[in-house]
Amino acid sequence: MANTEDLFKNIISHSKEYGFIFQSSEIYDGLSAVYDYGQLGALLKNNIREYWWKSMVQMHENIVGIDASIFMHPTTWKASGHVDAFNDPLIDNKDSKKRYRADVLIEDYIAKIEGKINKEVEKAAKRFENFDETMFRGTNARVVEYQKKIDEINTRFKTALEKNDLADVKQIIIDLEIVCPISGTRNWTDVRQFNLMFATQLGSVSEEASTIYLRPETAQGIFVNFLNVYKTGRMKIPFGIAQTGKAFRNEIVARQFIFRMREFEQMEMQFFVKPGTEMQWYDHWKETRMKWHQSLGFPQTQYRFHDHIKLAHYANAACDIEFNFPFGFKELEGIHSRTDFDLKSHEQHSGKKLQYFDTEENQSYVPYVIETSIGLDRMFLAMLSQAYTEEKLENGEERVVLRIPPPLAPYKCAILPHLNKDGLPEMARKIIDNLKFDFYCQYDAKDSIGKRYRRQDAIGTPYCITVDHQSLQDNTVTIRERDSMKQQRVFVESLSSFMDSNTNLKTLLKL
Ligand code: GAP
Repeated sequence: MANTEDLFKNIISHSKEYGFIFQSSEIYDGLSAVYDYGQLGALLKNNIREYWWKSMVQMHENIVGIDASIFMHPTTWKASGHVDAFNDPLIDNKDSKKRYRADVLIEDYIAKIEGKINKEVEKAAKRFENFDETMFRGTNARVVEYQKKIDEINTRFKTALEKNDLADVKQIIIDLEIVCPISGTRNWTDVRQFNLMFATQLGSVSEEASTIYLRPETAQGIFVNFLNVYKTGRMKIPFGIAQTGKAFRNEIVARQFIFRMREFEQMEMQFFVKPGTEMQWYDHWKETRMKWHQSLGFPQTQYRFHDHIKLAHYANAACDIEFNFPFGFKELEGIHSRTDFDLKSHEQHSGKKLQYFDTEENQSYVPYVIETSIGLDRMFLAMLSQAYTEEKLENGEERVVLRIPPPLAPYKCAILPHLNKDGLPEMARKIIDNLKFDFYCQYDAKDSIGKRYRRQDAIGTPYCITVDHQSLQDNTVTIRERDSMKQQRVFVESLSSFMDSNTNLKTLLKL
């Protein structure tokens, strides 16, 4: 088995080799941090999106889904705070001309010290039986010293950001003697704030054109439609509005494949509640969303909550669901208690009353909001990294298998005529014709059956249905299951119900 760095590289090359993900505009050497989904990637992405939509919208009578535009009135982004506060602190190295996020340079520096601590902990854990890590961290002189340094840097950096003291952010980088990874020098420019929104022009005549933005989150499309949906949908609080769609951010440090991209897709839901009940709903959605992730059947230890201590300007509570990616635990989904910040701000900027009339209380109020926000591409990466397995079989052969939950797999089954003659292809084609309206099926008659199994394993097809000479006699076929590689013989008539009970999204939703 490859180490985690190699494993991640293998996952990236597997994604390309089998048509899941390609670099955007590859023939022109690609566009940084922008990716295209290939023939299999598009299917997997659709399936993940559909599973989210069904779980959130179809399964909740009080949640409806919309599809708002990417372009929105520019005042939207003033009201949301993105024009003033959606910034990253940037610094350039004058020698390499490379641009960095100042906070990332400092975080990377801290991560190196954390790495040293972890090494000390690992060493000690090997040496002592009944090793008490907390005690070790609190008493070992070297670890205590490292930790003290981390705390000092964090406090100084946090204060500098809070005061918007960019000169001190630069001074921290200088004091820590951080060098540019390319030039190796400390020849830094001043730190500047850089807005992450992409701006473009609406209108064809340049003098009259106005600046608008590509949305950096889908959430605002929901807030500006709050009144429309509440009135036309006769919604009663608590209720939710969901949507999926593209978002755009001019990320400076865009790395780790599709983890952080400049164009990506979000799946968001804003849940409108009575003021004062928001913490109860926040806990509810934390639990519900964690259950959704765990419904995929991956080990529970791969997920954890990370509660935010430093809150965004709009939140009174927030956490991430983190996933253990090949490069460590990182944010997969955010759950935020956004208070009444957004609706109130849109009220102020639009002059429209964005309130709910509570018939039970006989009063109007601006609802509070709990948001669940997950990146579809990040979910795709979590799925791929968890599903990707390199295995050595008992017979010494090796295989790569994508253990994608069957309801989400791009192809649900492959139909394989054992030989490409004797009427077997014709029978296989008939079976496909019966199944293909309900299930994505692949037909494959080339190469040995073993090679064909390997190809399907590599793209995550959960079932291989083989048509052999016995099939012609008794109308049975074999079904080979991807993960266990076990085979069973079934009647052709039962294939459709077999596929339905094993690959329907219902099986994940535990219905
Ligand atoms: N409306 C709230 C919001 O947008 P966020 O934490 O900035 O919150 C939510 O983003 C989710 O969107 C993240 O948890 C992540 O899954 C995804 N996401 C954010 N930026 C991304 C990027 N540059 N590339 C891919 N996914 C991203």
